[in-house]
Amino acid sequence: MKFFQLIPLLLMSLFLLGHSPKGGSASKIRCLEKHKRDCCKWKGVQCHNRTNHVILLDLHNPIDDDIDDISYAPLKGMISASLLELQHLKYLDLSYNDFGHAPIPDFIGSLSELRYLNLAIANFSGPIPDHLGNLSSKSLDWVSHLHSLEYLDFSFTNLSKATNWLQAISKLTSIKELHMYVSALPNIPPSSLPSINASVPLATLDLRWNLFEVSTLALIRWFSNFSSTGLTSIDLDYNSMPSGIPAYFGNMSSLTDLDLCWNNLTGEYFRLIRNLSGPTEKTLQFLTLCGNSISGSMPNLSSFSSLESLNLWANQLNGSIQEGYLKLAHLIYLDLSSNNLRGPLPDLSFSLSLEELFLQNNSFNGTLDDSIGCLHKRETLWIGSNLFAGIITESILSNLSRLQKLDFSLNPFLTLKFSPEWVPPFQLKYLSLRHWKLEPNFPFDFSPAVLRVPKGLDLSRNKISGSITFLCHARHWESLDLSNNVLSDQIPDCFTHFERLKYLNLANNNFFGKIPHSFGSLGALPLLHLCNNSFSGELPTSMRNCTNLKMIDLGENRLTGYIPTWIGDKFSQLKVLVLRFNEFNGSIPPSWCGQNIQILDLSCNKISGVIPDCVHKYVAMIAAGVENGSFIIDQDASPYWVYDPIDQDAFQNQFKSLENAYFMWKGNRSLNFLNFSRNHLSGSIPTSLGELTYPGILNLSYNLCGKIPTITQLLTFNESSYMGNPGLCGLPLNKSCPEDESHQDLNNNATSSEKNEDDGFINEGFYISLGLGFIVGF
Ligand SMILES: *[C@@H]1O[C@H](CO)[C@@H](O)[C@H](O)[C@H]1NC(C)=O
Ligand SMILES: *[C@@H]1O[C@H](CO)[C@@H](O)[C@H](O)[C@H]1NC(C)=O
Ligand SMILES: *[C@@H]1O[C@H](CO)[C@@H](O)[C@H](O)[C@H]1NC(C)=O
Ligand SMILES: *[C@@H]1O[C@H](CO)[C@@H](O)[C@H](O)[C@H]1NC(C)=O
Ligand SMILES: *[C@@H]1O[C@H](CO)[C@@H](O)[C@H](O)[C@H]1NC(C)=O
Ligand SMILES: *[C@@H]1O[C@H](CO)[C@@H](O)[C@H](O)[C@H]1NC(C)=O
Ligand SMILES: *[C@@H]1O[C@H](CO)[C@@H](O)[C@H](O)[C@H]1NC(C)=O
Ligand SMILES: *[C@@H]1O[C@H](CO)[C@@H](O)[C@H](O)[C@H]1NC(C)=O
Ligand SMILES: *[C@@H]1O[C@H](CO)[C@@H](O)[C@H](O)[C@H]1NC(C)=O
Ligand SMILES: *[C@@H]1O[C@H](CO)[C@@H](O)[C@H](O)[C@H]1NC(C)=O
Ligand SMILES: *[C@@H]1O[C@H](CO)[C@@H](O)[C@H](O)[C@H]1NC(C)=O
Ligand SMILES: *[C@@H]1O[C@H](CO)[C@@H](O)[C@H](O)[C@H]1NC(C)=O
Repeated sequence: MKFFQLIPLLLMSLFLLGHSPKGGSASKIRCLEKHKRDCCKWKGVQCHNRTNHVILLDLHNPIDDDIDDISYAPLKGMISASLLELQHLKYLDLSYNDFGHAPIPDFIGSLSELRYLNLAIANFSGPIPDHLGNLSSKSLDWVSHLHSLEYLDFSFTNLSKATNWLQAISKLTSIKELHMYVSALPNIPPSSLPSINASVPLATLDLRWNLFEVSTLALIRWFSNFSSTGLTSIDLDYNSMPSGIPAYFGNMSSLTDLDLCWNNLTGEYFRLIRNLSGPTEKTLQFLTLCGNSISGSMPNLSSFSSLESLNLWANQLNGSIQEGYLKLAHLIYLDLSSNNLRGPLPDLSFSLSLEELFLQNNSFNGTLDDSIGCLHKRETLWIGSNLFAGIITESILSNLSRLQKLDFSLNPFLTLKFSPEWVPPFQLKYLSLRHWKLEPNFPFDFSPAVLRVPKGLDLSRNKISGSITFLCHARHWESLDLSNNVLSDQIPDCFTHFERLKYLNLANNNFFGKIPHSFGSLGALPLLHLCNNSFSGELPTSMRNCTNLKMIDLGENRLTGYIPTWIGDKFSQLKVLVLRFNEFNGSIPPSWCGQNIQILDLSCNKISGVIPDCVHKYVAMIAAGVENGSFIIDQDASPYWVYDPIDQDAFQNQFKSLENAYFMWKGNRSLNFLNFSRNHLSGSIPTSLGELTYPGILNLSYNLCGKIPTITQLLTFNESSYMGNPGLCGLPLNKSCPEDESHQDLNNNATSSEKNEDDGFINEGFYISLGLGFIVGF
C-alpha cells in the first residue's frame, strides 16, 4: 500500500473526553490581563464568559470549498511553549497546517483541561507523545481505559501490529464515532471477535481502506450488535466485502449513510436493493456503491424516499431506466456514470433539488429534452460519451444559471445550435466538449464571462484554430486539453499564474515558436504533452522548476539545443520522457542514470556520444514492470479530468492513481521502451545490457558500431533493434565480425527517414491513463 508513503502526514484527531493527563498548576492568566487587549474577540479564540480564560483555540487552516480567491496559507514554524500558559484550554485545533515534520510538542499533554485536540493533516511527524498514548504502537490497550471517549480517529495511523484493536474498542462504552481510515488494521477471524458486554451509542463507523479480506461481513455484524442506537453511517470503501449486502441491513432503522465503494459486490442490483428494503428504505440518504460489479437493470428506487445521493459509478448496470424508478424528491447528487445503461434520459423532473448529474460513459440514446434544463439548482451536467441525440439549444440551457461543470463531449448524434449573440447565464469552471468537430466560432466562445474562474477545459479532437491567448484571462487552470485541433500561433507567455495546473495537453496542433519561459511556473504539473507541433528553439531552462513532471512528451517538433541535462538533477518522479523526432544534440547525460525513467524515446535526433552504461538498470526495471503486468495496452484509453479540488476524496484517489499510473498505448506489442534509434550514437553496446531478459524493450537501430556483446539475452532481441548500425556485427545480425573471419555480408545502409517506419512507439495514440480513480467524485 503506497498510500502511507504518499501522505507522510500524521493524521490524528482525538476527542479526549475524560482523559486528563497530569499538568502543571493551573495559572491564572486571562486573555485581558496578559495582552492588554481583548484577544477573546480574535478570530479562532474563545474565552470563558466570566473568567475570560482562553478556553478554545481554533487555528485550523480553512480549506474553503471555493478556493478561487483564497490561497492555501497554512501556519508554519514551531509551536511555542507559551501555549502552555493557556491552562484552561479545552479545545485546540491546529489541523490543516504545515509544521514541517516537527514533532508534536510534548507539552500538549500537559494541558490538563483539554477535551478536544485536532492535529490532523498538519505535517507533524515522529512519535506521539506518551501522554497521548502510543498510537502507532503494537497495542491499543491504553485506549481501552478511556471509558468516556466519544470520538476516536486513527486514520492514516499504521496499526498493523495492534492485533487487539477490536478488543480495545469493545471497552469504549461511550464511543459514538470511530474512524480508522487507512489504518492497516489486521484482520480478525470471525471466531476471535470479542464478546460484547455493553451496548454503546456507536453511530459512525468508518473503516475505509483497510482491505479486510475475509471478515468484513462478520465485522459489520459485530459492530451493528455493538451499537445500541443503531449505526447511522457505515463507510467501508476499499475493503473486500464479498458478494452482497446482508438482509439485516434492511432493518437498520437509523442508517442514513452507506458507502461500500470498491468492494467485491456482485450480482444483480435489484437483489441488493431488496436486502435494503425495510425500515432502511425510509432513512437512507446516501447510498454509495461505486466501483463494484453490480449488474442488471435499475430497480425501482422510489421507495427510498430520503435518498439525497446515489452513486453507482463504475458498475455493470445495463438496460434502460423505467419511468418513475428514480422518482426521488430529495435527490441532490446522482452518479450513474461508467455503466452500460441504455435508452432515454431518465426522467428527473421530480428531483427539483438535483445539483449534480453524472451520466457519462453509458449508451443513453434518447433526446436531451427540456427537462434537463428545467432544474435551476443544477451545477453539474456531465453526460459525455453517450449516444444522446437531438439539438441542444439556448432554451435548454437558459435556466441553468448555477451551472459550473458541463460535459457534452463525444455524443456523435448531438448538435449544438445557438444564436451567435447568446450570452449563457452560467459561468463555468469545467467545460468538456471533446470530439465535437467544433469550428472556430462555436457557441461558448471563450469569453471570460462564460469561463469566469475556470479550472478545467477539454476541447480536444475538434477543429478549432487560432491562438490560445484566451487562456491568459484566467489564473487557476488545473486541467487543459486542447489536443488534436488546428491551433496555431505561439504559446502565450502567460503561464506564470498556472501554478495549479496538473494536466496540459497541446499535442497534435500547429503551434510554433519557442516554449515559453513561464512554463517554469508549472511546478505542480505531472503531465505535459506537446508532441506533434512545430515548436523550435531550445527548451527554457526555467523548466527545471517543473520538478513534479512524471511524463514529458515533446516528440515530433523542431526543438534544438542540448538534450536537457537538468532532467537528471531534480526530476525524481519522471517516468516517461519522449523527445523523438527533434533536433536535440549533445550526449545522454550520465545524470539521467539516477532517474527512474521507464520509457525513454530519444530516437531521430542528433544525439551523439555513447550510451551510458546504466541503461541496463532501466531495462531491468521495465522488464519487471512488464512481468508484473503494470503495463497495459488499451486502445481506447483517454485521459479524464485530472482532479476536482473540491472533492478531497477524489483528489486523494487521483493522487494515488497518478502514482500507479498505467502507461497505455496503441499498437502492436513490439514496443521500444528505450529508443535510441536514428541518432549519432557511437561506441559499443554496454556489456551490462547482458542483464536483460526481455526482447522488444530496446531500440538502438541506425547508430552504433562494434560487436554486439555475445551474451545470450541480447540475442533474444529482434534483429531490427540493431538495424542500420553498419558497424555492428555478430549475432543476432546476419553479419559476422571481421575478427570472426566467417562470411562477409554486405549490409545495406538504411537511410529511410520516413517518420513512421519505426514502429511508432509513441504517437497520437499514446496516452497515459491515470486509472480508475480519475473519475471518482463525478
Ligand atoms: C505498517 O507497519 C508495518 C511494520 O510495523 C509494516 O510492515 C507495514 O508495511 C506498514 N504498512 C503500511 C501500509 O505502511
Ligand atoms: C456563559 O457560559 C455558560 C456556560 O459555558 C453558558 O451557559 C452561558 O450561556 C454563557 N453566557 C453567555 C452570555 O454567553
Ligand atoms: C512537510 O514538511 C516537510 C519538511 O519541512 C516539507 O518538505 C513538506 O513539503 C511538508 N509537506 C506539506 C504537505 O506541507
Ligand atoms: C509508549 O511506549 C514507550 C516505549 O515503547 C513506553 O516506555 C511508554 O510507557 C509507552 N507509553 C504509554 C502511555 O503507553
Ligand atoms: C466481557 O465479560 C467477560 C466476563 O465477564 C470478560 O471475560 C470479558 O473480558 C468482557 N469483555 C469485554 C470486551 O469487556
Ligand atoms: C450479533 O447478534 C446476533 C443476534 O443477537 C447474533 O446471532 C450474532 O452472533 C451476533 N454477531 C456477532 C458477530 O456478535
Ligand atoms: C475480489 O474480486 C476480484 C476480481 O473479481 C478477485 O480477484 C478477488 O479475489 C476478490 N477478492 C475477494 C476477497 O473476494
Ligand atoms: C441478501 O441477503 C441474504 C441474507 O443475508 C444473503 O444471503 C444474500 O447474499 C444477499 N443478497 C445480496 C445480493 O446481497
Ligand atoms: C427485520 O425485522 C423484522 C421485525 O423485527 C424481523 O421479523 C425480520 O426477521 C428482520 N429481518 C432480518 C433480515 O433481520
Ligand atoms: C435507443 O436504442 C434502442 C436499442 O438499444 C432502440 O430500440 C431505440 O430506438 C433507440 N432510441 C433512440 C431514440 O434512438
Ligand atoms: C522557480 O520556482 C521558484 C520557487 O517556486 C520561483 O521563485 C522562481 O521564480 C521559479 N523560476 C522560474 C523561472 O519560474
Ligand atoms: C554505407 O555508408 C557509408 C558511408 O556513407 C559508405 O562508405 C558505404 O559504402 C555504405 N555501404 C553500403 C553497403 O552502401
